[in-house]
Amino acid sequence: MEERAWAGSGVSVIPEDMFLTWLKIFPDGLRVAEKNGEICGHGYVQISDFNPSAKKDQRSWNEVTDYGYTTNTHNPNSNSVYVVSFSALGVGKKLHLHFLDLTRKYMKKYLVGACRMPGLIKYAQKKNVKMVSKSFVTEYARLVCKTAKEKDKKFFDPVLSVFASANGMRYFDVVKNYFNDRDSGNWACVLYFKNEF
Ligand SMILES: CC(C)(COP(=O)(O)OP(=O)(O)OC[C@H]1O[C@@H](n2cnc3c(N)ncnc32)[C@H](O)[C@@H]1OP(=O)(O)O)[C@@H](O)C(=O)NCCC(=O)NCCS
Repeated sequence: MEERAWAGSGVSVIPEDMFLTWLKIFPDGLRVAEKNGEICGHGYVQISDFNPSAKKDQRSWNEVTDYGYTTNTHNPNSNSVYVVSFSALGVGKKLHLHFLDLTRKYMKKYLVGACRMPGLIKYAQKKNVKMVSKSFVTEYARLVCKTAKEKDKKFFDPVLSVFASANGMRYFDVVKNYFNDRDSGNWACVLYFKNEF
């Protein structure tokens, strides 16, 4: 499933030992979706701190998630549910709803995720922009988020639009060199949901 979801992206899939580590660190943080006996999605979250009023966090995926294993970054006492890994084949939106429920179940203040933007580099080429700057990426991410709920989805991004269209998701910031991802130019867009207790 992972290989199908990431096909053609050039991004490495999650290795088996990482899934096994997650089951030891925070088993309830791993959700697997199944349809007709076949796995069609997975997501894994850790508990870590997030403060939307603080200085913007420019750490990479490796830094925020301990290279994806979460061994030293998952802290049950922290205030937020942070999406570490996510892939889906047609159930992405449903899986996202599970993590909103998990955020409520654990009474955490925020659900946070850094989204890929695989439409970014194509958009830059269309605009004849050779070097993408933070302001250009911010403009793209804000346009995608702003229009994500519109019917014609004029600025549709295959990943960011999916999460930005979910109710309550808010734009936070863009992060350079979040992880190696050719089509997003290694940029990611952080979105968050505030849990209203
Ligand atoms: C991003 C990802 C998780 C989305 O999951 P998914 O199962 O495809 O998502 P869903 O099917 O629930 O929703 C996709 C939505 O995009 C819409 N969509 C897809 N292509 C579209 C297009 N070209 N134009 C407009 N809308 C489009 C679908 O219609 C659907 O919206 P709807 O439910 O309102 O009809 C999945 O594509 C994936 O795993 N990608 C590779 C891994 C990855 O990038 N993970 C995220 C890391 S941040």
